[in-house]
Amino acid sequence: MCGIVGAVAKREITEVLLQGLHRLEYRGYDSAGLAVISSQNQLQILRKVGKVNILTEATKKQGISGQIGIAHTRWATHGDIQERNAHPHVSSNIIVVHNGIIENYQSLRQVLSKRGYSFFSDTDTEIIAHLVHWEQCQTGGILADIIQNVIFQLHGNYSIVIMDSLDCNKLVAVCSGSTLIIGCGDGENFIASDKNALLPVTCCLIFLETGDIAEITSQNIKIRNHLGNIVERSKTLLAKKTYIEETYSQYRHYMQKEIFEQPCAIQNTIAGRLQSDFIDLSELGENINILFSKVQHVQIIACGTSYHSAMISRFWLEKLANLPCDIEIASEFRYRELVVRPGSLLITISQSGETADTLAALRLTKNYSGYLGSLTICNTEHSTLVRESDFALITYAGSEISVASTKTFTAQLTLMLILITYIARIRGMEHVIFHQIIRTIEKLPRSIEQILSLEKEIKILANKFIHKKHALFLGRGSLLPIAMEGALKLKETAYIHAEAYAAGELKHGPLALINDDIPVIVIVANDYLINKVKSNIEEVHARGGKLYIFAEQNTGFIQCKNINITLLPKTEPIIAPIIYAVPMQMLAYYIAVVKGNNVDQPRHLAKSVTVE
Ligand code: AGP
Repeated sequence: MCGIVGAVAKREITEVLLQGLHRLEYRGYDSAGLAVISSQNQLQILRKVGKVNILTEATKKQGISGQIGIAHTRWATHGDIQERNAHPHVSSNIIVVHNGIIENYQSLRQVLSKRGYSFFSDTDTEIIAHLVHWEQCQTGGILADIIQNVIFQLHGNYSIVIMDSLDCNKLVAVCSGSTLIIGCGDGENFIASDKNALLPVTCCLIFLETGDIAEITSQNIKIRNHLGNIVERSKTLLAKKTYIEETYSQYRHYMQKEIFEQPCAIQNTIAGRLQSDFIDLSELGENINILFSKVQHVQIIACGTSYHSAMISRFWLEKLANLPCDIEIASEFRYRELVVRPGSLLITISQSGETADTLAALRLTKNYSGYLGSLTICNTEHSTLVRESDFALITYAGSEISVASTKTFTAQLTLMLILITYIARIRGMEHVIFHQIIRTIEKLPRSIEQILSLEKEIKILANKFIHKKHALFLGRGSLLPIAMEGALKLKETAYIHAEAYAAGELKHGPLALINDDIPVIVIVANDYLINKVKSNIEEVHARGGKLYIFAEQNTGFIQCKNINITLLPKTEPIIAPIIYAVPMQMLAYYIAVVKGNNVDQPRHLAKSVTVE
């Protein structure tokens, strides 16, 4: 979603801004813009609909340069996708870029109209520029003080960076529930909404806290907290190796690369945690076993693909740890009156660690006593979710660029299985079973390699789907979430309407949809439910449905008219959801490729969903 980059230096910074924007592209956006003040104190502004490359070309053409500037990628919320709605927004000498939503912007717009301001855009951002300008005209004084007065009037979660073209040696940033990170340089400083934009210029970062206002010059960084008191925020030094120029090398898309990176992503997530006869989670601190032994209930919160991880985790928590578990989509959970169960452990799952709804849900739980603690399973170290949770376990899947999550999903599942097995052992899981599960998890990278070798077969299968408008996915038990994940992948990358059902639920309604034009994709594990799923398959077949079955070898499925079988290697049922997710990812990917879609950045979507 929207991204912010700002820089103030003693050197030319236009390249830094554009490179920063380029490194934010993966988050999803529809337009981009920048404002740079030249050495002759001239304000230069450019906004373009479309890719950062278009903005880069136009910036070069116009010879925009300077030593201070702000830039933005916009993912439309208020106002359609047009150049005049792209950021930065301006009110006379005040220039603003903004992430998040100002919820009371309509009423503020009316107030400002009465004060004589006219509006160039339909955005909620422009009101910030006018409010700051108005306040400056009324009171004068230091920009950070003026902004402090203005933000009392703004409702919502947001981050803002403001520049004053009449006082052009500083940037003022406000962090209010949406991430902002200062990059500290040598005689130059930077700000961005995502560390990826900063890493080419510095590894020394300050993560602002909600309520912070930072005044940034090339030499100084002054931060005041929500009470207006000057505070020191600690600096985090990231290892140089964190900055890798990401390319998709021999692959055609990031999504393909990330699918094929799964054995390695899982190996990295396991490394150091699985020992020959025990699980090492000492990273959670020495008192964690005491906390885990008190757990009587687990509440898991997540969105999208991460929610599917939560569904499978519930299955494991009940089966392995005998623990009751509730799961909920963060956008629903955050608006409920919570009834906290005694001894409840809160777990959030997120690839980005910046999903607005998941963060809001975590923050909501802090108003309730009763939770034993909050633990996040996250792929992004230093993300807001990691910083605001009591405990964090990082999936070391490496950065995921494609909007469609793949390797982070299977890494999340692997880490959840490790965590649940660990908790189960504390709660008395038998030694033999504990060992069996450790051995099974260790096999995961190899098992996924075997699945990846089905690439050719799945590529051929993909061709049968290109003209389809709808698809049904069926699964049962721990594979129902994989059916749901398969449907989500197909929708977001191939733009095919897909629905997932518990196979046993078909006869309660969806069976009416069956005809020979709707492919029915069934994922079958060789577990206690296999005969039940076989009966459900018969029900579809008897009604002329076209079945695409993904099942383990030797499970007795026979290819025939209207039944296409893709045979999967033999798998222990406990890890079947992790392994069977991969053919679903490959199927969606190859259908999207054949259809010529923008696989890595599907229309309307964003990688990091930072607004609710
Ligand atoms: C998955 O392919 C999607 N892009 C999306 O559902 C994603 O999983 C969701 O937005 C949650 O994101 P998070 O894991 O970063 O919190």
